[in-house]
Formats: sequence, structure tokens, C-alpha cells
Amino acid sequence: MRNSHVMRLIKTTLFLAVYTLASSAFAVTASVSSLSVISGSSQSIALSNINGPLSVSNSSPGLIIVSAIDASHYKVTGVAVGSATITFKDRTSSVQVRVSVKAPVSSVLEGRLLASNCFQCHGTNGSGGFERLTGESYGEIYDELRKFATGAEDPNGIMAAHAMGFSEAQLKAIAAYLSTLR
Ligand code: HEC
Repeated sequence: MRNSHVMRLIKTTLFLAVYTLASSAFAVTASVSSLSVISGSSQSIALSNINGPLSVSNSSPGLIIVSAIDASHYKVTGVAVGSATITFKDRTSSVQVRVSVKAPVSSVLEGRLLASNCFQCHGTNGSGGFERLTGESYGEIYDELRKFATGAEDPNGIMAAHAMGFSEAQLKAIAAYLSTLR
């Protein structure tokens, strides 16, 4: 009697120990927890301990593309500047990878040249004049320029005339450069 109680206790303890070890060892893990990609280029993520079918969700499909290389490797391609989160989820667990997409240096350099057109009114390096252009994010500056360029804001104003003269890619390059200024 006594013996079988002890045996049961040992079995239960063993079972719990193995179960706890196994379930933590089999939580899906990613090779990185955060990633920085240049817009237009790619990086890969390796996953391990995948248990069952894996689902992949991308918080911002306009900013990054996530594609499978094989069952445990994924490719992340930067599309537009900003940040996104990828969630990999298997049968029992999930893991997130935060991705920040940066502008390519060539685009920042191009933007620097183009932005010299702005400084006669916005001060040297956007430091003042009518409106300061420093300290804003890429998204904020690009949104404002898009509004002027499409005529959504002040279509007959000075800024519309300026913004309409640039291509979409040039506006992005200008915003990428200005967002590096503090
Ligand atoms: C001839 C003068 C002039 C030039 C050149 C000019 N701007 Fe402006 N900009 C203004 C004025 C005036 C305003 C404020 C009035 C308005 O919103 O229309 C303004 C407003 C802005 C705003 C909105 C600021 C805010 O916080 O509301 C942004 C962004 C901007 N300009 C960016 C640029 C960029 C980028 C360039 C260069 C490609 C540029 N500007 C060139 C005169 C100019």
C-alpha cells in the first residue's frame, strides 16, 4: 500500500517535470526578436521548435512582405519606411519579431540634395523659417507632403506648388532625409 503511494507520487512528479521541460523546450522560437531592414532589401528569420502547423501574421503588409523560404525559414522584405510586427504561431505557442524598415542611404542622399530646395523658406537644414522641418518622423513629413502634392491641403498655396513638382519617389526621398534631422 505504502509503496504504491510513493510510486504514484514519484510518477506524478516525474511526469510534471518532463511535461514542464518539454513544453518550454517546444515553444516556437525565432533567431531574432527584432530586425532592421533597408527598404527594397531582405533579411531572413530562422524558427525552431515548431510544433504543428505554423501561421504567420504581418501587422503591416504595406511596409513589409513576409515569405516562406522553407518550413522554418522566412524572408522579410522592406517595402516602405516604418515599423511592423510579425507573429509566428504554432499549435501551442507563438513568438513575435519586430521589424523596422529604414530608407536606403542612396535615397537619403538623394533627399538631401532635393531638400536644399526647401531651405530658402524653412531655414538651413529645415531649422526654422516659416515652419521647422526637423524632429518629425518620416511618416509625418511624407503625409504632409502628399497632402500638398495631391491638393488635399491648401491647393493654391506655396507648398502645393512646391510639392507638386516632385515625383512620389522624390517626396519619399525628401521625407527620408528630413526625418534624419534633429
Ligand atoms: C517658397 C517658400 C517655401 C519653400 C521653397 C518650401 N516651403 Fe514648405 N512651407 C512654406 C510655407 C509658407 C509653409 C506654411 C504654410 C502652409 O502650410 O502652406 C510651409 C509648410 C510646410 C510643411 C508643413 C509644416 C507643418 O508642420 O504644418 C511642410 C512639411 C513643408 N512645408 C515641407 C517643405 C519641403 C519638404 C520643401 C522642399 C521640397 C518645402 N517645404 C519648400 C514655404 C515653403
